[in-house]
Amino acid sequence: MPAMELAGNFFLVGLMGAGKTTVGRTLARHTGKTFYDSDHEIERRTGVKITTIFDIEGEESFRAREKQIIAELCQMQDIVLATGGGAILAPENRQVLASHGTVIYLRAQIDDILARTKHDKSRPLLQTANPRAKLEQLYQQRDPLYMEIADVVMDTSCQNVNTLVQRLEQRLLTQQP
Ligand code: S3P
Repeated sequence: MPAMELAGNFFLVGLMGAGKTTVGRTLARHTGKTFYDSDHEIERRTGVKITTIFDIEGEESFRAREKQIIAELCQMQDIVLATGGGAILAPENRQVLASHGTVIYLRAQIDDILARTKHDKSRPLLQTANPRAKLEQLYQQRDPLYMEIADVVMDTSCQNVNTLVQRLEQRLLTQQP
């Protein structure tokens, strides 16, 4: 039996390292919904890591795969979906996410993201000489897009996952129709 009754789909958006997968898994467990992660789904279907797709096919091809997976997953019922940080770049993705569930923006501080992704080699966009500058640029570009479709904005700074999920669930309960 799920601990909470919350209707519909929940879609997590936000920059890489914001905690979408961890928060999404916990939210799914508490609500009895099925958890998906668009990156994991791409890796499962292609049989290779995201970095390999970027290396061999390039970002554009990755974005095409991402669009296809997101369109498919959004047709499902009662899921929690953690999207890749750049999923909101495509207007089609923003439209399908906004119209098929509650969009939750995990808004993290650049310092927190840097600390979490310091030793991470799985994120091609951060394999650069200056990851801070890259993240700042991504934030400038993407924050307005996350905000455009967000039903709920959660500031993730200085909160452990349990506190964050607890607060998020309270917010979602007050949003129920
Ligand atoms: C990306 C974020 C990654 C992954 C890919 C591109 C981005 O997902 O989709 O490396 O453009 O920000 P996470 O946000 O889960 O790290």
